[in-house]
Amino acid sequence: MTTAAKNTIIRATEGGYFGQFGGSFVPDVLKTKFDDLYSQFLNVLGDKSFETEFMSYLNDFVGRPSPLFYARRLSDYVGSKIYLKREDLNHTGAHKINNTIGQILLAKRMGYKEIIAETGAGQHGVAAATAAALFGMKCKVFMGKTDYDRQLLNVNRMRLLGAEVVAIEVGNSSLKDAVDAAIGYYIEHAEVFYILGSAVGPHPYPTIVSYFQSVIGKEARQQILDKENRLPDSVLACIGGGSNAIGIFGAFLSDNDVKLFAAEGGGEGLILGKTAATLSLGKAQAFQGSYSMVLQDEQGNPVNSHSIAAGLDYPGIGPEHAFLHESKRVDYSPILDSEAVEAFKLLAHLEGIIPAMESSHAIALATKILKNKNELSIINLSGRGDKDVERVLAD
Ligand SMILES: Cc1ncc(COP(=O)(O)O)c(C=O)c1O
Repeated sequence: MTTAAKNTIIRATEGGYFGQFGGSFVPDVLKTKFDDLYSQFLNVLGDKSFETEFMSYLNDFVGRPSPLFYARRLSDYVGSKIYLKREDLNHTGAHKINNTIGQILLAKRMGYKEIIAETGAGQHGVAAATAAALFGMKCKVFMGKTDYDRQLLNVNRMRLLGAEVVAIEVGNSSLKDAVDAAIGYYIEHAEVFYILGSAVGPHPYPTIVSYFQSVIGKEARQQILDKENRLPDSVLACIGGGSNAIGIFGAFLSDNDVKLFAAEGGGEGLILGKTAATLSLGKAQAFQGSYSMVLQDEQGNPVNSHSIAAGLDYPGIGPEHAFLHESKRVDYSPILDSEAVEAFKLLAHLEGIIPAMESSHAIALATKILKNKNELSIINLSGRGDKDVERVLAD
């Protein structure tokens, strides 16, 4: 692959920076591993056989391309023409599998036989456990105990797939704590490959994850051109660390007429400790290996986040999103837990689709900002909501 072609894939500058955000703030032992990982990644970018293998698993195992579905009744309800990018129809039920297939193929090329992963909603954990089973690798998944309890269906799926699930009971026992535990284990165990599940953390992960998820945006762009003969007015996604959002936004970043919107986990309101709306309330600092926006107190200590959606319940955010927020290319808004629950039920009733609680945040955002706008829009439906059904019915 030529340098010019690589530059269209890799938006980060030297050292993994997006403006002032990004980089790699890790101990030397990890720096060496990450340098090695990045050079392997650059090698596979230029390797046709890797691309062919990756795409064949995405097509035949994951079931890609995922459909772009015209949501007629939701469109009528909102007053804009809305298409749903159906990542919920992927094998394992969310976008996370795109990235785990890509990373496990990298791991295989690098000679690893064991993987670890962190998970919040359990979707990345299930995807990692699935990929490990597919390639006959050992798999250990770190999960906060709060998430373990609220996403038990996914814990059981991971177990059935042969993974060991480690419940972490520190902090508020959610995604941040699972990431800390996974990084700690990774430092101590040279024999494992860390499949990170979102576009967060130290360089090169934000770039690698964004690349493996870019298939979402590439497909969606072509599909809307095929169906409508034009680009959409807007594209919407929910955002935890930022992988499904950057996956779909990537293909539209240089189309300045396409507005990009992301829904953060607003939790119970914009109060520290009750929200996961990092870009609404956070400040910049180095956190979990990269310089990005983080929910923090006056002394600069990270503050526990809260969101009803385990996959959005994270006090940090990927560095590229911090940059896209600062440069105002993407508009980020908080969606409250109660609004997400309403949107969850709304999509089930109007379209016969039960969305993940994470994805419901994007649906809720659409009902607000597309109201009677008569716009053409795509919402990335990042996952399906089986895991959230009991919780919604209990309320
Ligand atoms: C279905 C679904 N959507 C969205 C997310 C949020 O992650 P990201 O921001 O990396 O897409 C998760 C995370 O677990 C998820 O399971």
